[in-house]
Amino acid sequence: MVGSCNVDLVVRGATLPRPGETIVGEDVVRLPGGKGANQAVAAATLGAQVSLLAAVGRDETGEFMIASLRAHGVDVGHVQRSDRPTGTAFITLDQNGQNQIVVAPGANADLSLEGIDLGGFDVVVAQMEISATVVADAANRSKRFILNVAPAGPVAPAVLNQCAVVIANEIEIELFDVAQLADCIVTLGARGAVHYQKGREVLRVGAPRVEVVDTVGAGDVFCAAYAVQLARHASADNALRFAVTAGALATRGVGAQGALPTEKEVHEWLARAS
Ligand code: RIB
Repeated sequence: MVGSCNVDLVVRGATLPRPGETIVGEDVVRLPGGKGANQAVAAATLGAQVSLLAAVGRDETGEFMIASLRAHGVDVGHVQRSDRPTGTAFITLDQNGQNQIVVAPGANADLSLEGIDLGGFDVVVAQMEISATVVADAANRSKRFILNVAPAGPVAPAVLNQCAVVIANEIEIELFDVAQLADCIVTLGARGAVHYQKGREVLRVGAPRVEVVDTVGAGDVFCAAYAVQLARHASADNALRFAVTAGALATRGVGAQGALPTEKEVHEWLARAS
């Protein structure tokens, strides 16, 4: 995984505040997060061997993030230290588990892939909380590259052409022309996900019903699960079914990493559904 490491400062309120509104929420909770770190621990929990290429600050938060990655079995040998503070995400949740997130990238902006050989990884996944240059570099040097265009931003056509698959949610995909993407998956939250090839819908999968506590990080678990399945040579259809179920199961706990499913759990849910 090539991506961000953030500490998530999470506060739950009755509703999400409107612009200009102040609401009173519950006690703030500090949790490990960041799309790169979330995807790395999710893939490791699904049984994959995972390295995270990321940058954290020389601060206590950086130590907290590294300890959390290690505890999940993620290789942190390529986690770099920056003079900027560790990335922080300010997350507001409402009672239905919907969220709003503002990220202060800090050290994530300093990540560099210089001197790192990406050729040894079966699949490389990146997201967009790091610099566009690093994303382009990763796309160039990976055997199989997956780009999760989250948060959404412009991506050079050359980078999009190098992607085995582009993964986006319904908001993020608005920035792209699906017809121009060879393979693209759009996640639809509780409605599952859809796979397009050059703009043509090839598969749509519904999500299992679960009791949703917190949707933060569900997309990350989806991406990790899809990448793990591709690395294991699953068919694109099976990979999509697996990833949709994994993403749904991830919404059952608090925090982006609070309900990471194991491979066995995902297969049990898939077997129940068939
Ligand atoms: O995708 C969820 C993640 O987005 C959070 O963990 C937060 O850190 C932001 O990066």
